[in-house]
Amino acid sequence: MKILVVGGGGREHALVWKLKQSPHVTAIFCAPGNAGISQLATSVPIKVSEQKALVEFAKAQNIDLTVVGPDDALAAGIVDFFQANGLRVFGPNQAAAQLESSKVFAKDFMKRHGIPTARSQSFEESAEALRYCQGLSYPVVVKADGLALGKGVIIAETVEEAALAIHEIMELRKFGDAGRRVVIEEFLLGEECSIHALVDGKNYLLFPGAQDHKRAFDGDQGPNTGGMGTFSPPSKLLTPELENAIREQVLDRFIAGLRADGMDYRGMLFPGIMVTSDGPKVLEFNCRFGDPETQVLLTRLKGDLLELLEATIDGRLHEVSAEWRPEPAVCVVMASGGYPGSYPTGLPIAGLDVLSDAITVFHAGTRLEDEHFVTAGGRVLGVTALGADLSQARGCAYEAVAAIKFENAHFRRDIGAKGLKV
Ligand code: AMP
Ligand code: GLY
Repeated sequence: MKILVVGGGGREHALVWKLKQSPHVTAIFCAPGNAGISQLATSVPIKVSEQKALVEFAKAQNIDLTVVGPDDALAAGIVDFFQANGLRVFGPNQAAAQLESSKVFAKDFMKRHGIPTARSQSFEESAEALRYCQGLSYPVVVKADGLALGKGVIIAETVEEAALAIHEIMELRKFGDAGRRVVIEEFLLGEECSIHALVDGKNYLLFPGAQDHKRAFDGDQGPNTGGMGTFSPPSKLLTPELENAIREQVLDRFIAGLRADGMDYRGMLFPGIMVTSDGPKVLEFNCRFGDPETQVLLTRLKGDLLELLEATIDGRLHEVSAEWRPEPAVCVVMASGGYPGSYPTGLPIAGLDVLSDAITVFHAGTRLEDEHFVTAGGRVLGVTALGADLSQARGCAYEAVAAIKFENAHFRRDIGAKGLKV
């Protein structure tokens, strides 16, 4: 089979790396890809947003399956467009992807189907939102409705901060049309867990859990980022009891909700869960693989990812199963100094050629310049290791991080540490 992966980050590098191991795959392309991906797949210089060019490419190359990585492509209806052109594609259609692209839509879905989530109100008028804020106890969370690169969520400690957030989102349109509506919700206290499950419309196949580290600095300090590192499994947090609660209260109800609403959801579902003293609560639905969750999950997946994706598309998830390596995996993100703010690019990366076989480095923001790897984005590399236990996996990943050099590289030193605490 000929495969096209759409996207160019660490998640897509992990998807290409794993799909390439499938005995069914004869050729693999990635648009636009990155320097690491180009070592495994043929890079195609077409942007994620150029749907027409992507469809033309897939037709010309007789691509058998296209796998879509990023949320913005799904929100823009890439799956519908490929299907309308008779092409096979993995990911939810535009209507279903609203579960990620509109927080108002997602909250309404959760409320309608009894999926536990923070109490909230949605607003179309800033004056009403401002009035509502007066009567709340703080902190509260103010969220732009649409996609905002993870920056549209503001934790307001006071009514003044909430008012400023509403003003910036709805009136100044800091996040563009994503700010036509806001959700104001209760602040939840707890630890976060990333859940992944393939959903074929009627059935789901749950992956092991993972934990991300969203803040830029050690100890969960500093601004939110796309994710500074992950580990899996999060055994301390995700107990068998909690997993059962997530199956019953989130995934079973999600499937029942699809049926009740007549919604066809086929693809990866990644609910971000806050584990509170009152049980699991869904913070958001992502309609795609997580980044950098995918790096640790696919490192642990035994067997053929392609078969799982095909079963998802064909509504046959009840006929397949997935096996996982018992060893934990850790992914430490090496980012450009300054990320998530501004940062330079084009800095040479050294040390990638001396790593042991136990290490997989997934590239995110890299490109080739005169056959040398240089930085090309905020998150640059995801250094991923398996170990006999979490502590060994961390040791192994950090040893490799120490060997990889680029000017002003920034990484957290505590990825996975919360999994070791007693
Ligand atoms: P979201 O895009 O909705 O997942 O929000 C991004 C991040 O903001 C989450 O990963 C949490 O760290 C934080 N967050 C979102 N909603 C809440 C909430 N209700 N209570 C506390 N933290 C939240
Ligand atoms: N790692 C969080 C995300 O992919 O949204």
